[in-house]
Amino acid sequence: MKFFIDTASLSQIREAQDLGVLDGVTTNPSLMAKEGITGTDNILKHYVEICNIVDGDVSAEVIATDYAGMISEGENLAALHPNIVVKVPMTRDGVKAIKYFTSKGIKTNCTLVFSAGQALLAAKAGASYVSPFIGRLDDISTDGIQLIDQIRTIYDNYGYGTEILAASVRHPMHIIQCAEVGADVATCPLSAITALFEHPLTTLGLEKFLADHRKAGQQSVKA
Ligand code: G3P
Repeated sequence: MKFFIDTASLSQIREAQDLGVLDGVTTNPSLMAKEGITGTDNILKHYVEICNIVDGDVSAEVIATDYAGMISEGENLAALHPNIVVKVPMTRDGVKAIKYFTSKGIKTNCTLVFSAGQALLAAKAGASYVSPFIGRLDDISTDGIQLIDQIRTIYDNYGYGTEILAASVRHPMHIIQCAEVGADVATCPLSAITALFEHPLTTLGLEKFLADHRKAGQQSVKA
């Protein structure tokens, strides 16, 4: 399963890249705003900076909601860097735009997906990625992981090549559960990825190994 980081923070992207397990980045307008990135020129420059840090797909979301606007914005985004994936919302115009981008060889990520039917439409339009938001489903007492499982079954039934990119991941157990049901990608906050490193028995075990090593060294000096 690929690990993407879900942020527009360059420092967090660098930190995740340094871990050696990062495969890509997803952003959205809320995440860009959180970093204080405003104005088209600054936003476009920021995407290029992200692409220069990470060797993998970087999702850049269109703001337009009409077909013509999405096409023009998406083409500009795609021209920024070969790793840009145009992120398009799950709407009627969005699905038409995905179909168009697919015909032009431009990679797409269909976002704001909350049902299996929406995921089926995205795959039929040829989306490179589909982004079901599992945390937001959990927030309304609906099982987000179950949706990933359902989409996996449907895509496997028909051999759709669209990759399932689990989004709105909130904690390390979401990552494990995504891997169990066969998500292709999990896009996560940095904290959820780094939490995977931690286990108290690893910490204790390492302390004991090092203590034993030091003790053995002291004994050989004495002897
Ligand atoms: O990738 C989509 C993601 O950013 C949404 O996450 O935590 O706002 O539901 P969240």
